[in-house]
Amino acid sequence: MRSYEELLGGFGQAIAFRARRQLARELVRENAASIVIDGVSFTLYDMAMGGVSFIAPAQAPRWQVDDVLDVDIRVHATSAFHGRARVAREERVYGKRRVGLQLIGGFLDLHEMQRLDEEESLARDLAEGPERIFARVPEAYREALARAVHFVAFYQRSLGYHEARIADDAHSARGDLARRAIAAIRPRWDEVRFAAAAACRPILGDRPAILAAKAMTETLLTPMLLAAPVISRAYSKPLGYAGDFQVMNHIYRDDLEGTTAFGKVFHKLACEEPLAAGVRTRKDLVKELTLAEHARSRRAGEPLRIMSLGCGPAREVVELLAESPEPLRGIHWTLIDQEEKALSAAYHDVLRGIAAREAACSAHCLYLSFEQLIRDPLAIRGEPQDLIYCVGLFDYLSERRAQALTAALYERLRPGGLLAIGNALAPNDHFWLGEFVLDWTLIYRDRAAIRRFAPEAGPAEAELRREASAAYDFLLLRKPA
Ligand SMILES: C[S@@+](CC[C@H](N)C(=O)[O-])C[C@H]1O[C@@H](n2cnc3c(N)ncnc32)[C@H](O)[C@@H]1O
Repeated sequence: MRSYEELLGGFGQAIAFRARRQLARELVRENAASIVIDGVSFTLYDMAMGGVSFIAPAQAPRWQVDDVLDVDIRVHATSAFHGRARVAREERVYGKRRVGLQLIGGFLDLHEMQRLDEEESLARDLAEGPERIFARVPEAYREALARAVHFVAFYQRSLGYHEARIADDAHSARGDLARRAIAAIRPRWDEVRFAAAAACRPILGDRPAILAAKAMTETLLTPMLLAAPVISRAYSKPLGYAGDFQVMNHIYRDDLEGTTAFGKVFHKLACEEPLAAGVRTRKDLVKELTLAEHARSRRAGEPLRIMSLGCGPAREVVELLAESPEPLRGIHWTLIDQEEKALSAAYHDVLRGIAAREAACSAHCLYLSFEQLIRDPLAIRGEPQDLIYCVGLFDYLSERRAQALTAALYERLRPGGLLAIGNALAPNDHFWLGEFVLDWTLIYRDRAAIRRFAPEAGPAEAELRREASAAYDFLLLRKPA
């Protein structure tokens, strides 16, 4: 805990307090907040006490700055603000029109909007209950889910019983129980997962059906699996987003973690799934690329500058430092993440790795969002990089953003440098656990979609590489020397 003397407030321009804008979908349920203008409803994008913004389709009227509109801001069907608003701005954000309005003569009560949303949700649950969900889930998926639920519940009971039976045995006997169970269960659990994925496939384009199938899965199956630490962390998202550095650490350790045999078994099985196994093998591919670039730079007698965007725990750096037969020399890493806790862990482990081997290398961490690299062409432009990689981030970005980020990263390469971008591949039969059990949405892409990250890379040589678990593809762009 920090003392009051350490709470510093803002600096410079930040001392003028402005109520923070909040994304509508973070404040209320998806599509619950809308704005009605001249009888046409638009979904709100973000909101603050004094104003809102919304995405306008191409055919919506062309409002001018300072136009005054009559607006009705609603949560579900209930009005939260009815009055006038001034058009403050219109921006193009990744190809879409985003219109910002300033409310005149009133303000939005955001807490009241949240309350209205919660009330609506409760009223709907009480009136329509689970039947509404059930009716939307295709029978084939209900059956596949029932099989998965029975499978997991069966082993929860069985392993619980046998664990109690051998409770007085040595600790290793309990570890043996988990290992024995994993070996026996693994192929059948794979079948269960594949069957669930196959049953989901027909509804993948049908958003209401997907939401219902996810809700049913999260009600029936996920709670049992929370005994597995990696599943618990990935599902509960304590830092507010999926795939934080602690989830990555669980996956990298790939160990028998958990307090019960049942928890250990499903933790380990989750760490073995292609998406998780692929986290480890894509890290190996990044190590391979680093060593190849290192060899090039050594031959040229030059230092090697490497940037990792969305670095998380920077496990590949830690391993490279520890494993190289001779201490590494001449590498300077720039590690970037929007998560202070991840940077703190990465910084500590990497510096310790450098010190332990007395490696003539350095590392510094930047607490930045990739948005700053896109928006500010001057941000970290001083030192063109020899190798830039971004792994575990593009799978969350729309195509437009992915293209903008690819261009921003490519700009920061020196001539002859290499940009490597990883993305979960499509089609695949392993999306079910992430999407339906963990509510961890990734944008799976085929090779054509991954190539489209770089429509304007000009003369860059583009290559696609698949990592060893065949869960992620890498776009490799070499800037001409
Ligand atoms: C799935 S993890 C991957 C971490 C690491 N690259 C790896 O493979 O182990 C994604 C990382 O991206 C970071 N991240 C998410 N949004 C970001 C943003 N807007 N800017 C920079 N980093 C971001 C997260 O904090 C997290 O550490």
